[in-house]
Amino acid sequence: MTFKPVDGINLVYGRNGSGKTSLLEGIHYCALTRGFVSANDSECLSFLKDFFLLESSFLSDTESLITVKLTYTKEKEKQIIVNNSEIKPFSRHIGSIPCITFSPPEIVIVNGAPGERRRFIDTAISQTNRRYLDDLLAYRRVLNQRNALLLQLHDNQTVHKEMLPLWNETLARLAASIVKTRVQFITSFFERFKEIYGQLSVDEDPLIIYRSSLGKICTHTSVEDLYSLFIRKYEESERIEIFRAQTLAGPHRDDLIFFLNDKEIKKFASQGQLRTFLIALKLAQYRFFYDTLGEKPLCLLDDIFSELDSSRIADIFAILETCGQTIITSTEIKNKSNVTPICIEFLKQSAE
Ligand SMILES: Nc1ncnc2c1ncn2[C@@H]1O[C@H](COP(=O)(O)OP(=O)(O)OP(=O)(O)O)[C@@H](O)[C@H]1O
Ligand SMILES: [Mg+2]
Repeated sequence: MTFKPVDGINLVYGRNGSGKTSLLEGIHYCALTRGFVSANDSECLSFLKDFFLLESSFLSDTESLITVKLTYTKEKEKQIIVNNSEIKPFSRHIGSIPCITFSPPEIVIVNGAPGERRRFIDTAISQTNRRYLDDLLAYRRVLNQRNALLLQLHDNQTVHKEMLPLWNETLARLAASIVKTRVQFITSFFERFKEIYGQLSVDEDPLIIYRSSLGKICTHTSVEDLYSLFIRKYEESERIEIFRAQTLAGPHRDDLIFFLNDKEIKKFASQGQLRTFLIALKLAQYRFFYDTLGEKPLCLLDDIFSELDSSRIADIFAILETCGQTIITSTEIKNKSNVTPICIEFLKQSAE
């Protein structure tokens, strides 16, 4: 199947199970090296097929062309070729094609476990800050190594306990840098979020707070201070960490807390309010990318309008009209000025 979206808002419509989400999934693969619905490559493989191939071309706002060819076979795993050269590690490609998504299962960012919010914040920062992504990958490696040592100490194996301060130091450096970047990001992101949220819902006052496993930290806490706080925390909790064989403080345990009118959203909000909050998070992410990169991100919005009343839908359209290229899926056609409807069945037929 070949799909050539137009500038502005593309509305891909068709019945349930017709392949709309799969189409967005394919574009997301090329932009960010993985799917957004299924994190698992093998699940994206068509039944009875042993490989998939995606070929795409992206044009930046400065008219530079990026071609992406992505192949996956069960035997050879994934291969990504960007402008005719193979990309490895895949993280090198992140940020080349800025992209935001919306999909109904992502509601877990607002009402699910803390890990979902950490993934949101990490994805958002990584697309605009390469050093952050490198720190994050290094942090995960060092965390695993430190946890492995804690497990050995827990099992009373004859290991060198003097190794622990060395891991503490490396982990604390990375943790401090990650937390500092996240807190700075939230401060600047929240300004945009508040503005967008106000456009979607005038009578609710939102708030986002970064909750650190270090306790109370503020925007002005320096990286050096964060480093010292982590070192102290590791020293204080050494016994319990060995007992639990786990690192108990750090960015891998932090969370974002969302409030509406001073009440925590997870606990009381309606389906529509949760959805609106998620949409505002994504549109604020759009603004943040645009302001940081000077490039309009691609918007891939799966089923964004279900469960929303007509006035909220109109507000979202008004915001999207100011965005760059947008691809929305829906089960219903919407005839609206500034929107190009595309029937998925028609796309599939033209491929046959
Ligand atoms: N690995 C797979 N191989 C082949 N077909 C699959 C695979 N995974 C899902 N499908 C099927 O692909 C079809 C398209 O699914 P998709 O989620 O893209 O539909 P959709 O148009 O988004 O539907 P909805 O409106 O319900 O969201 C479905 O019939 C689904 O069962
Ligand atoms: Mg779908």
